[in-house]
Amino acid sequence: MTELCRLEQLDTTGSLGLTVDLGRGPEEIFVVRRHDVVRAYRNSCPHTGGPLEWQDDAFLDDEGEHIVCATHGALFRIDDGYCLAGPCRRQSLSAVPVRVEGEKVVLA
Ligand code: FES
Repeated sequence: MTELCRLEQLDTTGSLGLTVDLGRGPEEIFVVRRHDVVRAYRNSCPHTGGPLEWQDDAFLDDEGEHIVCATHGALFRIDDGYCLAGPCRRQSLSAVPVRVEGEKVVLA
């Protein structure tokens, strides 16, 4: 079981960037939380492949309702990484399977 972070590291609507080895060497991912929903995605925008955050650990819009790509403003659903608006509309972020075990977020 690989622990990614603790729930307390994510605010109620928060996000956290991490570097983890998913079996192909170190990769940049991020974990997002909105209330009881916790998801993780590779930190790679479908539009250009670049990172999404606008500053360290900041992957969400002001309302904490969507993942936002800082480069061109694409908006993604937290629940499944689907792009709702922006240049990569209808594409999706690459999910990293995670689950919550007690107070920990772990790779599933
Ligand atoms: S790089 Fe993400 S929207 Fe263009």
